[in-house]
Amino acid sequence: MTTNLDQRAAAPAPPADPASAGGVTVWLTGLPSAGKSTIAHALAAELTATGTKVQVLDGDEVRPYLSTELGFSKAHRDLNVTRIGYVARLLAGHGVVVLVPVIAPYAETRGKVRADHESHGVRYAEVHVSTSLAVAESRDVKGLYAKARNGELSGLTGLDDPYEAPADPELVIDTADVDLDTSVRLGRSLVEALTGAAPLPGAVTADDHKESR
Ligand SMILES: Nc1ncnc2c1ncn2[C@@H]1O[C@H](COP(=O)(O)OP(=O)(O)OP(=O)(O)O)[C@@H](O)[C@H]1O
Ligand SMILES: [Mg+2]
Repeated sequence: MTTNLDQRAAAPAPPADPASAGGVTVWLTGLPSAGKSTIAHALAAELTATGTKVQVLDGDEVRPYLSTELGFSKAHRDLNVTRIGYVARLLAGHGVVVLVPVIAPYAETRGKVRADHESHGVRYAEVHVSTSLAVAESRDVKGLYAKARNGELSGLTGLDDPYEAPADPELVIDTADVDLDTSVRLGRSLVEALTGAAPLPGAVTADDHKESR
């Protein structure tokens, strides 16, 4: 007879070397309406179509499950980012390509998420979706900029709450200059460079990304 305890003991252990499992966390940081979710979901669709295991942890979708009690103070934003980073690290450690389109406005907190991945041998990369405030506000997908300007909302990142741009991200995409198809191609070649998957013919490498910043 198999008991519950026996089943638990028989559960597969995490890979000894997570980096060898083919997973990676790619965190897309940037202002509201910069294009993080749009790029992440389009990239996820393309990677999924090629048979890659992908999970998008989108801030809006995750918050009601992981951080429903949290608001938008610095402490709460940091806790939300830390929780999402932890889940991403677990998934990536099991070979999943995890795309995280979450503002994550504070550099120190993003750095802790990166360090947590590195200390567990899990690959991590940051994409700065660097679309300017002016362009992001002109899109105002959720109407938040308008509400903030009207005084109906306070603490909006980029307007009256800080956004600390990454100092050394693996990839920078300004969606005012780079269309969605190109953004997805750049993201895909970054993932492939990091996970060791064969690059697409003509795809740029992570080093190319650094040089083109
Ligand atoms: N090159 C591009 N890449 C991505 N999005 C683009 C691009 N050009 C225009 N857009 C548009 O910009 C908007 C970006 O909205 P999106 O929801 O992706 O922003 P976000 O960064 O996820 O914002 P939030 O932090 O509020 O969730 C969409 O309406 C998208 O169609
Ligand atoms: Mg979004």
